[in-house]
Amino acid sequence: MTHAQNAPDSSPANPKALYGGTSSRRITVRDIAAAKARGEKWPMLTAYDAMTASVFDEAGIPVLLVGDSMGNCHLGYESTVPVTLDEIAVLSAAVVRGSKRALVVADLPFGTYQEGPVQALRSATRLVKETGVGAIKLEGGERSAEQIRLLVDAGIPVMAHIGLTPQSVNAFGGYPVQGRGEEAAQQLLRDAKAVQDAGAFSVVLELVPAELAAEVTRTLHIPTVGIGAGPHCDAQVLVWTDMAGMTSGRVPRFVKQYADVRASLTDAARAFGADVTAGAYPAEAHSFH
Ligand code: KIV
Repeated sequence: MTHAQNAPDSSPANPKALYGGTSSRRITVRDIAAAKARGEKWPMLTAYDAMTASVFDEAGIPVLLVGDSMGNCHLGYESTVPVTLDEIAVLSAAVVRGSKRALVVADLPFGTYQEGPVQALRSATRLVKETGVGAIKLEGGERSAEQIRLLVDAGIPVMAHIGLTPQSVNAFGGYPVQGRGEEAAQQLLRDAKAVQDAGAFSVVLELVPAELAAEVTRTLHIPTVGIGAGPHCDAQVLVWTDMAGMTSGRVPRFVKQYADVRASLTDAARAFGADVTAGAYPAEAHSFH
């Protein structure tokens, strides 16, 4: 083996790369399209507050999703269904304030776009104007195509979301894998093409077989963002509390846990409690005279 083969790759990273690039201006949907053209994979995380958003932004995560998963992960609801537009608006504004570079995408919650395109436009316009987010996400394939088209015509970039759509938990009777079997796979492909034709700039594929997600990714010219959809999507998204080990109890099988934040916080809280009860905190260094 030659020295050159042993040496670490010293070629500069692509300055335009979504992850690891050097540009500090805010990422736009044009950057996302360019990444698909380059074949670049990229990460996306949810965020629900300014401080966490600033951590992920400084770590270089190029897209932050103010997901309605805030219902389960931040607001203490049983599902995403009760989340309101007011709640999404307050937390989206916080995530925009906490980030400098990431494209911030806000979810339209259940009941704020299903009535039709005009309701969707009213809800999305409010979020874009009041919070500063750069794009909107909504659930549904063919059934949401009209909504997507009107938002895009009005100048609002849309990330679509197909496969398992958690706002329909009551209709699904849980969170089952989608797109299994020939008929369901064909419907997923139709949904993917419908949202692309309607003008979506990307599409989340949630809980679908890896082979089907690969086929959708090959077929579309917009990027696919996988969650429980295997390794062949253009991007991957995780709910941050799952990714960082903050969620209590069981997490879905597709989650990889990269830290144990819940254990660290528990230890810190217990150490504080023990110090206070023992009179060890505050010490002289923390006191004023
Ligand atoms: O609300 C959310 O966090 C989402 C992701 C799981 C894609 O929709």
